[in-house]
Amino acid sequence: MNAAAALCSLDARFYTDPGIFAQEVRGLLARTWQFAGHAADIPDAGDYFTFGIADQTLFAIRGHDGVVRVFYNVCRHRAHELLQGRGNTRVVVCPYHQWSYELSGGLRGAPNSGSVPGFERQNIRLTEVRCEDFHGFLFVNLDRDATPMDAWFPGVREELAEFIPHIATLAPLEWVEAPEACNWKVSVENYSECYHCTANHRTFAEGVIRPETYQIRPAPDGYVLRHITECQSLDKMTYPVDLSANPRAGDYRSWFLWPMFSFQCYPGNVLNTYHWRAGGVDRCTVWRGWFTPGGAEDAVIRRLAAQDRDTTVAEDIRLVESVQRGLRSRGYVPGPLVLDPACGVMSEHSVARLQQWMREAVGG
Ligand code: FES
Ligand SMILES: [Fe+2]
Repeated sequence: MNAAAALCSLDARFYTDPGIFAQEVRGLLARTWQFAGHAADIPDAGDYFTFGIADQTLFAIRGHDGVVRVFYNVCRHRAHELLQGRGNTRVVVCPYHQWSYELSGGLRGAPNSGSVPGFERQNIRLTEVRCEDFHGFLFVNLDRDATPMDAWFPGVREELAEFIPHIATLAPLEWVEAPEACNWKVSVENYSECYHCTANHRTFAEGVIRPETYQIRPAPDGYVLRHITECQSLDKMTYPVDLSANPRAGDYRSWFLWPMFSFQCYPGNVLNTYHWRAGGVDRCTVWRGWFTPGGAEDAVIRRLAAQDRDTTVAEDIRLVESVQRGLRSRGYVPGPLVLDPACGVMSEHSVARLQQWMREAVGG
């Protein structure tokens, strides 16, 4: 008899307990690199967009020096929010009492501040947040002391340049938004294994990739899970691929960056992304991003995005929402993960790694 006990999935409370969710918002989500948006969406000085990370509202804005900076979206006077949505502005003006800030964050003017003894304009700045440009993809970390993304995700920057030779030219063509009635971890775990693919994703498994070649490898170091597979034989592919274009044209790969982002390269060097936002203990939103050079219209990518939305994304929503309902069942006791030493498509070792990180994040 095998004496080693099977590794079981996480207790249901990790996905249903508002206390654990609150702990994640205060801790994990505020200490990890989170996707903010794409630099191509704010090409000119004064272009900005607002977004949320953890329970905070932030905005990214391009300065006159061309640098994108990210700030908490709050006025240093009496806390009114500064910006809404997206747009362009010459200076950031607070709607409440008209304090104004330079694009680089310094206070520019405050009405009647001359009557305040010792008012030192130069000492008042918007609170800046760590931001990294990862091939045009902007990530932020609310932890000022966070180690850089290359330390979290070793090798990924270089591999992306190899798999997507034109990555520097890309801009978003389409964002597909999918709200899911489940805990973000249910969605991220589902994304990170392909044990369910053959039974649930016919189009993906038969028309995009070759399941028998699928491997998901947790990196030996860092917080990245790589999905590696080959494309389907060309006659079965749901879109045209020119295999002679470059050495990686026939490959599929994805790089999941803990905890809530993934770069995917589809055959044909087609870059697309997943990112998640946690809205509450039992709701999250997933976005699928699709990119082309300069954001140019591309009928093949549009069709691929629509096909993916109507098949893989829709199929996954049904799976993850059923799991969330199941996690509330009094009849559920966590079952063993299927850990095949050969790895491969029918193994859940990537889920084991994720669940280890999930436990560590809340000291559980
Ligand atoms: S709160 Fe912004 S100017 Fe008063
Ligand atoms: Fe799936």
